[in-house]
Parts: sequence; C-alpha cells; structure tokens
Amino acid sequence: MGRHISGIRTRFRLIKALMTLKTTKWVEIATAELENQDTHYRSVYGNLNPIDFFKLLNKRANKSLKELPAYSILNNFDYFKGNRDLNQVWSAEPDVSRFVADIAFLLDAQTVLETGSFVGATTTHIAYALSALGGKRKLYFVDVEQRFLDLALHNISTLGLNALDLYPVCGSTLSDAIISSLHTNFDLMFLDSEHVETGLWKEIQIFLPKLSPKGILLIHDSIRWPGVRRCLLRMQDTHHILNFATSNRNGVSAIIPKSCIKDFK
Ligand SMILES: C[S@@+](CC[C@H](N)C(=O)[O-])C[C@H]1O[C@@H](n2cnc3c(N)ncnc32)[C@H](O)[C@@H]1O
Repeated sequence: MGRHISGIRTRFRLIKALMTLKTTKWVEIATAELENQDTHYRSVYGNLNPIDFFKLLNKRANKSLKELPAYSILNNFDYFKGNRDLNQVWSAEPDVSRFVADIAFLLDAQTVLETGSFVGATTTHIAYALSALGGKRKLYFVDVEQRFLDLALHNISTLGLNALDLYPVCGSTLSDAIISSLHTNFDLMFLDSEHVETGLWKEIQIFLPKLSPKGILLIHDSIRWPGVRRCLLRMQDTHHILNFATSNRNGVSAIIPKSCIKDFK
C-alpha cells in the first residue's frame, strides 16, 4: 500500500486548474485554496486607520477636496489610437488613475514618478492634475517599451498637457541606469510595473529612498496580485499601509514610512 495522501481532491482540483486555466485564474484559485487550508496567508495587509490617513492628507494638502480637478477631457479618451494589438486591460481602472492624480493634486506635488506607464491612462491624469496646479512641475514616467512611452507622450500632448517638465524614461526599473537617471526625490510615486514579489520587492528597495520626507507611495494591484500583497505584508513593521478596493478588484495601496510620522494623531 502506498502512503495515504491527504487532500487528494484539492490536489486534483489544483492540477486541473493549473493545466486548463489562464494564469490569473489559477493563481486566484490556488490562493483561495491556501486560505482554505488555514495557511495564515493574509489576502491584503493594511495597518492604517483610514481617518488618520485623511487627517494626514489634510495636514499635508495645500488644496481642498472641493477643488479637485474634473478630468472631463479624459472621459472616453482613446489612449490606444488604433493600436488594437495592445492589451487594453493593462490600463489602470479610471478610478485608480483619478485617485493617483487627486493625491498628486492634494499634496501639491512638485515631482511625481510613475513606473509602468503603459499608454498613459494614469500618466495623463497626473499630468492633468499637475497642470491644474500650475508652475513647472516634474513628471517622470518609466516603461520598458519605447512604443508605450511614445503613445503616452502623444496622448499627453494631444490633450495639451505638455507644458509640464516631462521625463519619459525607457528601460527596466530594475536596471541601475534607470535609478541613476532620476535626479530628484518624489512627492508621489506610483508603482505599476513589476507585479511578482521578487521584482516588486526590488523596485521598492530601489525607489523608496527616493520618496521625499512628506511623500506618499502608491502601489497598484495590491488586492488582485499575490506578489504585491506579500510585499505589503513585508512592509508592515516599517510602514503605514492603507488599501483601497477599486472597480476591477485590482486595488491600490497608500504607503507612508513610519519614520516620517511619529504620531498620526
Ligand atoms: C499594468 S501596465 C501599467 C498601466 C498604467 N500604469 C496605467 O495606469 O494605465 C504595466 C506596464 O509596466 C511595464 N513594465 C513591466 N515591468 C517593467 C519594468 N521592470 N520596468 C519598466 N516597465 C515595466 C509594462 O511594459 C507595462 O506597460
């Protein structure tokens, strides 16, 4: 008699999912199964009282919620310009793009960085918010694919938002050349490039030192992607983290180093 194997049904279900479903689906099933097995795998990690976050934002903001930009020229904007081969679901949900841009606006950000700009759905929103603030603000956006940056830049200029200081940066966020080309600290950083734990964790190590003392780090896909969730779990002792559910269930998290705020009250 062979050794008794426990959870045989679960194992077969997972193998079947692995062999037949697309990656996002089998990862979701495997994750749910891990939770069912009581592995103490935490779905989403957060440790920041929402009201404390908004109080902090209020303290740091030069603008009020009442004045937020309307972004109306961005409604129904075609970011793809006929490039139907591009995977449209890579674009952030409109509510995420607005959220990122609104935080830039409220913080009166002088310098903003987005990693993984793709065709510029969020980049244009940030550009819109920075333009509404006025002055020579800096927007850096990074992508490995030059054609995505070209399209993002094209979209920004079509919308007449190119009076800002724009810095499209082509290359991998994990390469030394990229970090050494960023000659500034950032009031707001939005990470949306690496999504697996090893890659994102490296990005966090690389970019976090570039966050200005009053800055906020935003990370996309912090609900849907297990690697992103695990990175947040790894930051729990050193950072205040607040997660927001978003329209496509991707999620976005606001992260503030604890060293920057001794007491939230
Ligand atoms: C999910 S899309 C980003 C969507 C975009 N932020 C938005 O708000 O619409 C991810 C992008 O990250 C880029 N990317 C992935 N890994 C990268 C890396 N290590 N360095 C730079 N760009 C990367 C991809 O080329 C892709 O355009």
